[in-house]
Amino acid sequence: MRVRRCTHVVLEPRESVSFDIAALLRGRAAADSRFEWVAFASHLDGPVAVDEAARDLLGSISARRWSERPQPDPHAATVSALVECGLLLADTTGHHGMRDRDETLRDANWWSLTAIAHRHSRWAGVDSVSDMRAQGLDTATGLRATLGPPPPSVLPLAGLYQPLPQQGADAFDQLLANRATCRNFDQDKPLELPLLAQLLQRTVMAHAEVRIDPETVFLKKNVPSGGGLHPTETWLLALRVEGLAPGFYHYHPVQHALLPRPSPAPETLAELARRMLSGQEWFADAPALLILAPRFERSFWKYRNHAKAYRAVLLDVGHISQAIYTSATAAGLASFVTAAINEEEVDRALGVDGAGQGAVAICGVGWRAAEQVTAEFDPPRHRPG
Ligand SMILES: Cc1cc2nc3c(=O)[nH]c(=O)nc-3n(C[C@H](O)[C@H](O)[C@H](O)COP(=O)(O)O)c2cc1C
Repeated sequence: MRVRRCTHVVLEPRESVSFDIAALLRGRAAADSRFEWVAFASHLDGPVAVDEAARDLLGSISARRWSERPQPDPHAATVSALVECGLLLADTTGHHGMRDRDETLRDANWWSLTAIAHRHSRWAGVDSVSDMRAQGLDTATGLRATLGPPPPSVLPLAGLYQPLPQQGADAFDQLLANRATCRNFDQDKPLELPLLAQLLQRTVMAHAEVRIDPETVFLKKNVPSGGGLHPTETWLLALRVEGLAPGFYHYHPVQHALLPRPSPAPETLAELARRMLSGQEWFADAPALLILAPRFERSFWKYRNHAKAYRAVLLDVGHISQAIYTSATAAGLASFVTAAINEEEVDRALGVDGAGQGAVAICGVGWRAAEQVTAEFDPPRHRPG
């Protein structure tokens, strides 16, 4: 058997503190610290505890080339434990699953630390709403009581600021000011397909193509994109869109067209939307969800193993979400964006692997409900729609 180390791995020294309750009751501070090394790899679902022998062995095996183990192998037990957990990869047929996952990441040209941060910040089965409520962090007063005051909202520097002229508000100012995150969608009012189509046209449709050769094409869109690569794809989960069967669709930005994708039974979609949105029912009520899922490998084709590439991709997604907000507001629609999503469930539903392509944020659009049940942040009470 030949082995190699996985492509991206970092080791973290971890300290866990436990208390001796009996000693505490006797009035003695009795905290015990336990130290261990944990390994984070970009192709593994969670951290793996490693002992010193495993840590040292990992540091002595190449990630670039396969090496034959000596026979007999003085570290045979450590090698097989590391192969078992996936930190070492073996060239034998039984271990191709881990190898394939690792090679997908390597071939997508991820920079090590962002690959690891991306993998280990993805959620599965998180209910962010009950987690926040349990910690008392779901209201501004709860945040203040639990966390103390935040850093100031504005931090002026010492000196005299030169006042700037303010122009009278025109229609564009009004449009910008009307934008607000909607957490109260009208559940009885479906979204009309022409309105959804117009929103996609204004935000993620390509209005020009630059063809260098048949395999090298760049798109021009209304939103900017790092390197002009436009790696982010838009997937639609139609829940209540007139003229569209409920389910998942992939948006084609050049054809301006939707492709129906395999979808679970319509009656299960509302619950799936709630899970994808980590329990945020106020967003799951939107009739149309737009899932923004970059193809990282397209961006990393240019920015290979690049420390800034992941940041640029996330910024791209932010630009798209702002364009969605603005376009929705212009059409009298309400909208939102959230990054608090269970990426693993979303990626599974889309049929993407999370490494070459993965969901980063979900936007929603629809009609605002007459009544506000969930709090929104709209101090001047602009009510679009
Ligand atoms: C990147 C990003 C992530 C957000 N995630 C959430 C979220 O998970 N849940 C939520 O209710 N609002 C979310 N929001 C909306 C913000 O809470 C909202 O923008 C903020 O409260 C200000 O309100 P406004 O958008 O109406 O001005 C998010 C906004 C952004 C830009």
